[in-house]
Amino acid sequence: MTAVTTDPADAAAKLRSVTTDTTREATRSDQDADELRGALVEQIIVQREEQGFVLSREVEAALRTVPRHLFAPGVPLETAYANHSIVTKRSERGGPLSSVSAPSIQAMMLGQLQVEPGQRVLEIGSGGYNAALLRELVGPEGSVTTLDIDQEIADRALSCLAAAGYRDVRVLCANGEFGAAEYGPFERIIVTVGTWGIPSAWVEQLVEGGRMVVPLWIKGLGRSWALERRNGYLIGGDPRTCGFVPMQGVDKNRSRSVSLHGGQVNFWAGEQQADATALSEALSMARVEAWSGVTVRDGEKILGNLDLWLARLPEFWLLSAKQDAVDRGLVSPDWPMATPALIDRGGSLAYQPKLRPMNADKTIRELGVYAHGPHAAEVAERFVEQIRIWDRDHRHGPGPRLTVHPAGTPDADLPAGLVIDKRHTRMMVSWPEHVE
Ligand SMILES: C[S@@+](CC[C@H](N)C(=O)[O-])C[C@H]1O[C@@H](n2cnc3c(N)ncnc32)[C@H](O)[C@@H]1O
Repeated sequence: MTAVTTDPADAAAKLRSVTTDTTREATRSDQDADELRGALVEQIIVQREEQGFVLSREVEAALRTVPRHLFAPGVPLETAYANHSIVTKRSERGGPLSSVSAPSIQAMMLGQLQVEPGQRVLEIGSGGYNAALLRELVGPEGSVTTLDIDQEIADRALSCLAAAGYRDVRVLCANGEFGAAEYGPFERIIVTVGTWGIPSAWVEQLVEGGRMVVPLWIKGLGRSWALERRNGYLIGGDPRTCGFVPMQGVDKNRSRSVSLHGGQVNFWAGEQQADATALSEALSMARVEAWSGVTVRDGEKILGNLDLWLARLPEFWLLSAKQDAVDRGLVSPDWPMATPALIDRGGSLAYQPKLRPMNADKTIRELGVYAHGPHAAEVAERFVEQIRIWDRDHRHGPGPRLTVHPAGTPDADLPAGLVIDKRHTRMMVSWPEHVE
């Protein structure tokens, strides 16, 4: 692990070279930045109301204070204060390797993290901006350590932090898989890079009763989970939809994928064998529709966990389709990027189509299933039955619970549910019953 040693004065000078250098212009752009920052916070407040995440007074104050544009040098002010991520480094093939995350996602995750003044916080994945927000939240008695696997990104984070006046954030270049033991333990850990599992170092470096927020892919479904350490293991829930660049150097899920029609239709994140020829044949057979009787009103935001509920099933997959395949009527998934699907062993498949309008102004819509293949009716019925169980038992309930146990914990000591075994830990998704 290397602490980044860039001199903050050099860092500020570097940044000045890409920002405006006349006093009059600087003053005007400072005012513009303040206004844009205020408008961004108002947008996040609206989003919080729509999506129901916690935005404490302290997080709101931090968002109003930290000059986000100084963490995106060379980027137009409007872009720096738009509510989306800013890619700061790409791979040779053009994929994003690093970004300053979207501010509403950062606000949502900070709400999950519940930082208190005086705490020691570790951030895994650096951009500088989120570390500055954390610095505001922990106050003068607390400390923030942020680390990144990429030296260039760590250097960049340090220079931006210095330019914005946050000289006391510790910036390290290290593989986040191992945390930062020499500066721990931490009361809070926030992971800002997508991961498939929870390394044991993160559990070990979190104090008992401490809190961790981590964007995890479970069966291809990316969610930010809020977990607490209790008796040496992690327990929590509140999964929130999010998307992050993937963590480098950790054990990925060994999931399967199947491409049909030259990549026009893809099934991915599956666990069982699936045969492309059988699936293509199934898709050429007539469509069977099944409707669940479960309806959704406009503006309801409670479908977010249905896919996680379906992901318990061994025959769960995600379906993605190119627009051309949708236009040609090959498949009509609800969401072309990642729609829940089931594939049975005989090569029949079922997936969620767009919801069916139930009234003239389309404010009430019904969840259903489209299926193809020799056993289309059976797999469709199995799928709608799961939608009905989710609706009856979990739709209005506390949602899924995630527990993280050391590798080697016997099955008998785990609650019932979906088990995901990783190198260091066993992750367990269970569904506590909803009590009225
Ligand atoms: C989305 S960015 C972090 C955003 C940042 N926290 C911010 O303030 O907006 C994710 C970062 O994680 C880093 N990263 C990827 N794999 C990592 C690993 N194994 N250990 C530490 N950092 C890693 C990437 O280099 C990238 O800079």
